[in-house]
Amino acid sequence: MASAVKWTERYRPTSLKEILGNGKAVDELLAWANSWERGAPIAGAVILYGPAGTGKTSAALALARQFGWDWIEMNASDARTAGAIQKIAGPASQSRTFSGQRRLVILDEADNLHGTADRGGAAAMLKLVRDTSQPVLLIANEYYEIEKPLRDAAKGIQFRSVRSTTIAQALREICKAEGIACDPDALMLIAERAGGDMRSAVNDLQAAAEGSRELKLEDVATAERDVKSSIFKVLEIIFKGTSAREALQASYDLDESPEDLINWVDENLPLAYQGEDLWHGYESLARADIFLGRVGRRQ
Ligand SMILES: Nc1ncnc2c1ncn2[C@@H]1O[C@H](COP(=O)(O)OP(=O)(O)O)[C@@H](O)[C@H]1O
Ligand SMILES: [Mg+2]
Repeated sequence: MASAVKWTERYRPTSLKEILGNGKAVDELLAWANSWERGAPIAGAVILYGPAGTGKTSAALALARQFGWDWIEMNASDARTAGAIQKIAGPASQSRTFSGQRRLVILDEADNLHGTADRGGAAAMLKLVRDTSQPVLLIANEYYEIEKPLRDAAKGIQFRSVRSTTIAQALREICKAEGIACDPDALMLIAERAGGDMRSAVNDLQAAAEGSRELKLEDVATAERDVKSSIFKVLEIIFKGTSAREALQASYDLDESPEDLINWVDENLPLAYQGEDLWHGYESLARADIFLGRVGRRQ
């Protein structure tokens, strides 16, 4: 992307009021935070769950800001996280007394615990959620991929896909702020293509409109071919992306069979990585190949 600033960051909601299309979730979140402020939490932890790009992370950050809470954000699927947060939020922690300050512990990818964390990590996470001395906020895409004991120990708050008309409206505000004259039909087309994922809509708008003074319907309509991901774009995400989920998502947009994708990765891996990283890459690829073989046999 040409710009140094991603519009998804520039226009990230900074207050809960700015979280669009998820009023019920925001209300539940507020009630939970207020209960912590009163010193009688209705739950130690909440789980914000729902599709990507619907405002979960933004809501978590806006909440901390709104309540003047300190916050720390970690990846729950990282095996080292459980130990680290135990120190901050474990039952023995008196950090509230020392600093007089609450600290919101934000744990992203909580539906991914069985991926990289060992069993001990998952158990530590559960213990933490049950006994925490600080508000804990888990984020997940798939609620039912979170282990049941963890689900039972926390309060679930559902985020839903954002409606196209709501997304289009938000895109219009961005166009205004950027000084770009945007055709409403073009914005509606971008919004509809995003399928409820606001992050992807804002990214598509930036790709199509940044640097222009005007965005016309045909700019977006002709962009359709570019949007259909090329194999090279997907390889870039697989090799340089920040999460496995992102890579998986990108592969869905690709018009290639999984077998062909594996071949592409196989051929390009040594160009992207060396040494131990390359070795890990081949190891993952071999696993993918095995799983694919199993799927093939079952069908
Ligand atoms: N409900 C929403 N209201 C306003 N903007 C949103 C919303 N959901 C997503 N966005 C936009 O998408 C970006 C990514 O949102 P994020 O909160 O990280 O989504 P999630 O954590 O659910 O994947 C935000 O910075 C913002 O630009
Ligand atoms: Mg997020």
